[in-house]
Amino acid sequence: MTFPLFPDQPTALCPNRMQVHAITHETPDVWTLALIHHDVYDYRPGQFARVNIGPTGEIQRAYTLSSTPGISRFITLTVRHIAGGSGSGWLTQQVKPGDYVWLSDAQGEFVNSRAEQPLLLLAAGCGVTPVMSIARDALANHPQQSVQVFYSVRSPQDVIFAAEWQQLAARYPQLDLTILAEQDAQPGQIAGRLSQDVLQLRVPDIQARRVMICGPAPYMALTESWLAALGVAANHIVSERFQPPEAVVSADKTLTLTRLQPLAHYRVPVGSTLLAAMEQHQIPVTAACRAGVCGSCKTRVLSGDYRTTSTMTLSAEEIAQGYVLACSCQLEGDVTLA
Ligand code: FES
Repeated sequence: MTFPLFPDQPTALCPNRMQVHAITHETPDVWTLALIHHDVYDYRPGQFARVNIGPTGEIQRAYTLSSTPGISRFITLTVRHIAGGSGSGWLTQQVKPGDYVWLSDAQGEFVNSRAEQPLLLLAAGCGVTPVMSIARDALANHPQQSVQVFYSVRSPQDVIFAAEWQQLAARYPQLDLTILAEQDAQPGQIAGRLSQDVLQLRVPDIQARRVMICGPAPYMALTESWLAALGVAANHIVSERFQPPEAVVSADKTLTLTRLQPLAHYRVPVGSTLLAAMEQHQIPVTAACRAGVCGSCKTRVLSGDYRTTSTMTLSAEEIAQGYVLACSCQLEGDVTLA
């Protein structure tokens, strides 16, 4: 999809205009955009923002703010280019220094809210972006807080912020950094993937640590199971999910999705997410993170057979009224929307 280079419209969701100062190539498929905002932009290390993609802001995508307030010179977004991805393609291939982008206010609960507790930060791939933001802040502002990091990559060339990680490790004795590379591990790196054994051996005080995890869904699911097996309390674990669990879509079974205003019926594959079904049939819906984190796809279901995988931003009252996050709602039978 090709968009004009200057989406010059603020939207209610994304009212903060920022100018692109520089774009840095981090790894073969990851870029960092340094942004200038001429006003105060309030955010906490680890949070994300939605970004308007397109001329009128009809599409938003969520990206981590990889910078750290009070430490980083610019607000930065670090983005992996996904083949066919309209948001990442636009930000990494079309936007140039001097262009403007529009951001939402900062959102998200993936923050270091217990500075008195030692940290264990677990990241894979692009999941390192909020982890770097949090690590910078903890090291500089909470020197008593021990910070242990395990960062998993495919190969050493995929390490995002490679030089900065080395600088931090040299400067801060309270940082214990381990990089795990599946291929071509360099001296000082672990060859292979993170495992329960690695955690057990290298983090003897794991039950005392606050564990923050960010990475692809399978990595997060595995890691959470190891933490449970190692006796880490659930309330010590904070996970950042930007990818919903894979939906199992049935190609040959369909259900009826009914919309009351205006009345319409649509055939939808069983197992679709409500968001996919709405987008397929041009039913208005806003989606940014697509992973049950930001709340922008909140939709009311009057009745039907469905399963939710995240209700993170919904109140108990909204859930009782039938509200769901469309991106995190799998349709299992006929469903009627309000
Ligand atoms: S798009 Fe963010 S919660 Fe659904």
